[in-house]
Amino acid sequence: MKNRRQFIKMTTGAAVVGALGTNPSSAAETSKPRKTWVMSDIHCGYSEGGKDGAEWFSLACKDMQEEHKDISYAMALGDLTHGGNEQQLKNYITTRDGSGIKTWYEVAGNHEYHGGKADFFTTLIRSTDPYSVIDGNLVWIFLSDQKAGVAGELTPEACDWLEAELAKHKGKNIIVCSHQGVKDTTIDTDLSSRHLAPADRIATMIAKSDVVLWMSGHAHHKPYSAEYVKRVENTTYINVASMSHAYKTGSSQSFLLEFKPGAKEIIARRRIHDTKTFLPEFEVKVPLLYPLTFG
Ligand SMILES: [Fe+2]
Ligand SMILES: [Fe+2]
Repeated sequence: MKNRRQFIKMTTGAAVVGALGTNPSSAAETSKPRKTWVMSDIHCGYSEGGKDGAEWFSLACKDMQEEHKDISYAMALGDLTHGGNEQQLKNYITTRDGSGIKTWYEVAGNHEYHGGKADFFTTLIRSTDPYSVIDGNLVWIFLSDQKAGVAGELTPEACDWLEAELAKHKGKNIIVCSHQGVKDTTIDTDLSSRHLAPADRIATMIAKSDVVLWMSGHAHHKPYSAEYVKRVENTTYINVASMSHAYKTGSSQSFLLEFKPGAKEIIARRRIHDTKTFLPEFEVKVPLLYPLTFG
């Protein structure tokens, strides 16, 4: 179990991002729209639809390179691999590093816990401790699965960290990314195997916070439907899964988020990489609490 000191260190160690490594304080950068690519459930090492998850991911990267070269940063919300083993994770990393997108953020999903531990994730990607990233008045919070098991469960220390982080960033637009979703929001999150625990404490924290968007994966699309998006009070919940054809999804899908300085909403567009098209019926306008500014 992590001690409290480590979590305090992480809270103060939040990263500040600038688009594509440029000076984030330049006027050109702060007035430029941001594009962020969000995906989940790549399942490298599992083949369905005639291709391994790593191949579906590679094709999706090519699709985005052709159509959206100006992505500022990307994120993968768990189940990067199917079995959590070293080669599967290296296949993910090789494709990621060849994507043309310089900055990536990941969380561990339940499939990273091969043999009960996420050793390769922690060695090759990052710690499974929660972390945050600040981009102007956007705060991104990333919550990895912290132990093996299909259900997601935050440790008491991670809950304390999250509560303190949400309080610290009141007055900013907060976006949370996790593998499992929040109970009773998007599809299947009524099931204990599909939502984060402790559900009651998480709900209480959200109600007091400025979380405008909570994104997750874990429940793969079958196909994508309106049940993958839900709005409760000031928070929009989106299940972004899945990149892979694993579990009969029939297509490789993700979300492209567009942020414009001064805007009071984020536009989230559902991409089908197999056909290189967007699904207009699932374009989501995410209301913000504060007009967007970048650092
Ligand atoms: Fe998955
Ligand atoms: Fe999962």
